[in-house]
Amino acid sequence: MNRGAILVTGGAGYIGSHTCKALAANGYTPVVFDNMSGGHPWAVQWGPLEYGDCRDYEALVRVIRQYKPVAVMHFAAFIAAGESVADPGKYYGNNVGGMITLLSAMRDTGLDKIVFSSTAAIFSTDSMDPIGEDRAQSPSNPYGASKAMCEELLRGFAAAHGIRSVALRYFNAAGADPDGELGEAHEPETHLIPLILEVAAGKRQEILIFGDDYPTPDGTCIRDYIHICDLAEAHILSLGFLNGSDGAGANAFNLGNGSGFSVMEVVEAARSLTGHPVPARIVERRAGDPPVLICDARRARKTLGWRPQHPNLTTQIEHAWSWMTRA
Ligand SMILES: NC(=O)c1ccc[n+]([C@@H]2O[C@H](COP(=O)([O-])OP(=O)(O)OC[C@H]3O[C@@H](n4cnc5c(N)ncnc54)[C@H](O)[C@@H]3O)[C@@H](O)[C@H]2O)c1
Repeated sequence: MNRGAILVTGGAGYIGSHTCKALAANGYTPVVFDNMSGGHPWAVQWGPLEYGDCRDYEALVRVIRQYKPVAVMHFAAFIAAGESVADPGKYYGNNVGGMITLLSAMRDTGLDKIVFSSTAAIFSTDSMDPIGEDRAQSPSNPYGASKAMCEELLRGFAAAHGIRSVALRYFNAAGADPDGELGEAHEPETHLIPLILEVAAGKRQEILIFGDDYPTPDGTCIRDYIHICDLAEAHILSLGFLNGSDGAGANAFNLGNGSGFSVMEVVEAARSLTGHPVPARIVERRAGDPPVLICDARRARKTLGWRPQHPNLTTQIEHAWSWMTRA
């Protein structure tokens, strides 16, 4: 079954590449469009790779005319919340600039469906109450603010030009392809689970814990972890949703498992899974880190029919560990 091409910006990165694998398994041809600022050629295995930058209107229009995709999945962005505090222009320039250019190219070529990688970082709270879609947005760093602006652009382009969109607000992506073909490889790595596992694997001396004086039971930040394959599946379901009668306008879904784990708890889970010591050191809080982010994903479950297959933190760490220690 050939269901057509999907333009996947940022498809050489962590989440994009896992989603390309899921797209291929569902009969789509993923066409990766990536400037390789954070991507890897080895991660592009299920369709063509077009080198290009999302701020380059002509390149986007050329690729759209060449492959005639039926929809876009927009992963391309800079992703480090901490760095965005120190260098906001870099984040607004790429994330918002790329989105404006991409939506303009879609408008001008008649391409009218997009699934967008948004983030829990559009929210900020110190409450353990799971965050639903209707929670007021209050990004605590420029990265989150850039994504909130992208969602605003999606609403504008839906109203003015009929572009249908789904913004998926991922909480913390974790794990790796259980078949061992793909995994997380950010350079530099800023995400907690791979950093902890690098310590367990002896590639890094210690894990730094940014603050133990947050208003949480053990004082460290709490996050909701979601398996990369469950994220990929939500993208496939979103395509179906956009093609249906309810898919008009700008839509948004929060994606997470509804359980929060503190940094200390994740370190402990990795220690017990790997059987290795993981030395940890408490340092100052990092600017831009909200204390708690826990997801209420009931809307995605009800409307998209999303059913996470790997909600368990230990399974997520196990898959990441298998990837990191592969032969
Ligand atoms: N990893 C997470 O936990 C997480 C959580 C919430 C949201 N997100 C969002 O998901 C998306 C993917 O994240 P990831 O972890 O896979 O990141 P990643 O860095 O692995 O992938 C991003 C990809 O985008 C590419 N890219 C960046 N700017 C580009 C541009 N201007 N033009 C073309 N390509 C460009 C990079 O080369 C890279 O391949 C991002 O938009 C991120 O903000 C990630």
